[in-house]
Amino acid sequence: MGSLTVRNLSEEIKKRLRLRAAASGRSMEEEVRLLLAEGAADVPDRAQSRARPAPGSAKPPAAAAARQILLIVSGGIAAYKSLDLIRRLRERGYEVRVVMTKAAQEFVTPLSVGAIAGEKPFTDLFDQHSEFDVGHIRLARDNDLIVVAPATADIMARMANGHADDLAAAVLLATNKKILLAPAMNPAMWSNKATQRNLKTLIADGVLTVGPNAGEMAESGEAGSGRMAEPLEIVAAIEKYLADHPSVAGTAEPAHTPLAGKHIVITAGPTHEPIDPVRYIANRSSGKQGYAIARAAADAGAKVTLVSGPVALPDPPGVKTVRVQTARDMLVAVQAALPASVGIFAAAVADWRTAGDVVQKLKKDASGPPRLELVENPDILAFIAKLKTRRPQLVIGFAAETEKVVEHAKAKLKRKGCDWIVANDVSAEGGAMGGDDNAVHLITAGGAESWPSQSKDGVARQLVARIAVALNGAPR
Ligand code: C5P
Repeated sequence: MGSLTVRNLSEEIKKRLRLRAAASGRSMEEEVRLLLAEGAADVPDRAQSRARPAPGSAKPPAAAAARQILLIVSGGIAAYKSLDLIRRLRERGYEVRVVMTKAAQEFVTPLSVGAIAGEKPFTDLFDQHSEFDVGHIRLARDNDLIVVAPATADIMARMANGHADDLAAAVLLATNKKILLAPAMNPAMWSNKATQRNLKTLIADGVLTVGPNAGEMAESGEAGSGRMAEPLEIVAAIEKYLADHPSVAGTAEPAHTPLAGKHIVITAGPTHEPIDPVRYIANRSSGKQGYAIARAAADAGAKVTLVSGPVALPDPPGVKTVRVQTARDMLVAVQAALPASVGIFAAAVADWRTAGDVVQKLKKDASGPPRLELVENPDILAFIAKLKTRRPQLVIGFAAETEKVVEHAKAKLKRKGCDWIVANDVSAEGGAMGGDDNAVHLITAGGAESWPSQSKDGVARQLVARIAVALNGAPR
């Protein structure tokens, strides 16, 4: 890179580079190298070089990169969640084309959908421009899966009866692809005999469904079954279908699987340490970063065992997920999963648990608050890193710090005996805890490097790419 360092670039250019890097899963330096190579005409076809990831870089899942989802948004209050669904799909490398019904446009605007999807949504069966550009038959067929989210009672009825009176219905009738519905409606509409009859017909026709869930509805005072599945549940259903049908469109690139043949054990989420049968000690870890790493490692071809504390996330597709509650259970599950090439310890394990087992619920009585005696939990990372036999070749810990992040992480690397530490700032300003973005520092024996703030999926892909290089050597 000669004397040019990213640090010397203007803030505006750095910002654009950061966005580009986050989108491609490459580091900022790699992006700069790629841009220079393009500029110097080393790479004659700019568009092609941009689509192709840098050697060894963590690209989005190869199968996902070629995968196209057609999302049909029909008009329900849950339509606002489809914005998040689009974002979740795009950050996993999917191309998302959107069709909106007229009613959907009353809930979310085509402008906001277009901004998130990266292309204008299709809204009109008789729109000359879109018919000329794509046409409803191609819209119906040029995809790997059609997802209807939210799927209202009305669109389900129209589908079940073969209507083609707007673009969404025409596409659904003309498609030769699988359709996944995420129904969302008032509980009374969902349980109505007509809707249930239509659902039966649609399932018999081969349509897949995810949800609806039970719970509070957006309308006040309404509860029951009818809430649309959460975006991550829909993503999991999509990924499961595509994983089971790798050659749906026949357009998928050969998978980029630098971790094929490797076993990776990952811990994620918090642990819950019981105080008595109903109370426990916990922390705010969401498990998102560990789950993102599990997905990225599986996408890179690894066999993945994810040992997870209690979190509200669905099992990642293609990953063996072992759910545990306490630190001691987590250690047992990790040991049972060995041998492994890599151990990644992203869980926020509770440092302490109460001494002894309290079998009865502690009573609030005149003797005042109980005294809790705490004892230290096993340090899973340190235990595995110090194993004499069956130690994974690469042991990676996480460090959540609120100040002097790199300095403390370097000390932790030594203390725990691990090979790398991924350190992040969990101070209120850092925003990593529970959020979707993360700015981390990678600490290795060679020093510390700071990665740009990016999605947790981006961090996961970058980390997996580094692991592949560490295990296999630099890619040629
Ligand atoms: O000591 P501290 O909790 O800051 O260390 C964080 C790292 O150690 C993380 O990788 C975490 O998963 C791991 N850890 C562990 N078992 C513990 C405590 C922390 O594996 N009991």
